[in-house]
Amino acid sequence: MTQQKTILRALAGETLDVPPIWMMRQAGRYLPEYKATRAKAGDFLSLCYNPDLAAEVTLQPIRRFGFDAAILFADILLVPQALGADLWFVTGEGPRLSTITTQADFDTLKPGDAIHEHLGPIYETVGILAKELPTETTLIGFAGAPWTVATYMIAGQGTPDQGPAHALKAENRAVFEALMGRITDATIHYLSAQIEAGAEVVKLFDSWAGSLQDADFINYSIKPMARITAALKEKHPDTPIIAFPRGAGARFEGTHAAIGADCIALDNGVSAAWAAEHVQPAGCVQGNLASSHMVTGGDALVQETRAIVDALSKGPHIFNLGHGITPDADPANVQLMIDTVRQR
Ligand code: CP3
Repeated sequence: MTQQKTILRALAGETLDVPPIWMMRQAGRYLPEYKATRAKAGDFLSLCYNPDLAAEVTLQPIRRFGFDAAILFADILLVPQALGADLWFVTGEGPRLSTITTQADFDTLKPGDAIHEHLGPIYETVGILAKELPTETTLIGFAGAPWTVATYMIAGQGTPDQGPAHALKAENRAVFEALMGRITDATIHYLSAQIEAGAEVVKLFDSWAGSLQDADFINYSIKPMARITAALKEKHPDTPIIAFPRGAGARFEGTHAAIGADCIALDNGVSAAWAAEHVQPAGCVQGNLASSHMVTGGDALVQETRAIVDALSKGPHIFNLGHGITPDADPANVQLMIDTVRQR
């Protein structure tokens, strides 16, 4: 069967004249229509658990910009909540969770396959999107990778250096590893259910992979993601997987094979030219324009966008930012980036 959707072609290893494009956090606070729908929902979590409104905000950037992919509107911290952790968001600050730092805390968590009732509305959102998206647009589901999710569950909030998670790893490795295993199991169940509901691609966000050193990087970033991809490939061999070990630096080399991912998402810590030589020969790469260009725009945006597209033009490439777009970004700069990529 010939594959029409450009993102799926790139993920299958095809080199396209114009790389397909989408953007991390493409549904978000830089868009007035997102803010209006979020106000209607009440707060961020109510928006995540309202399938009609979550589908609506997923579709907004597709309508406005015609991106080649839509990413499910949800959050990586819904999995800890489904496992039984308390979760709330403090406006202007970010997420807060009840913490898991002892065996007794760990024992309060539900098993990995008990998450579906809680996450039912998310699967419903995926189902709505699978029906409503334009036929050329690819639907991406996602989850956090175990290490990144664990850093929030252990600290109870975002941390600059993931210190509490590193401390638990050092001081009570049994609880740390039990937690990593539980998140891994839950993530396999969660992503399988997203695929069964209609997600065509899934992405694993390991946003804090870069703070893991040496063997820890292999054991707690790469291996848990590899376990998840192996389990998903067994059940859903045709669903491509994107992995984002953010901050991996030179360790991006070899990650396609080590994780078993079809595509590696790159952050701004590596140049596109380096990635063309060291990462892209192993498969599709995604990235990696600095999000700050979405705030500042102008010639620098155009030059840098062209440089990335050119550097990665000899292999499979999905254009994206190196991290999520920020609330202070100007939608006009997003349009300029898209026009620059597509004018190629
Ligand atoms: O990319 C998308 O458009 C899809 C939806 C999505 C969100 N979060 C929505 C969101 C995705 C893929 C995520 C992933 C996510 N969430 C990550 C991994 C990617 C990354 O950014 O490194 C992480 C670490 C989280 C956890 C999280 N969620 C934090 C730390 C915060 C607060 C920081 C912030 O940006 O406000 C969130 C909130 C969040 N998740 C928002 C959105 C649109 C902002 C909430 C709002 O509307 O107030």
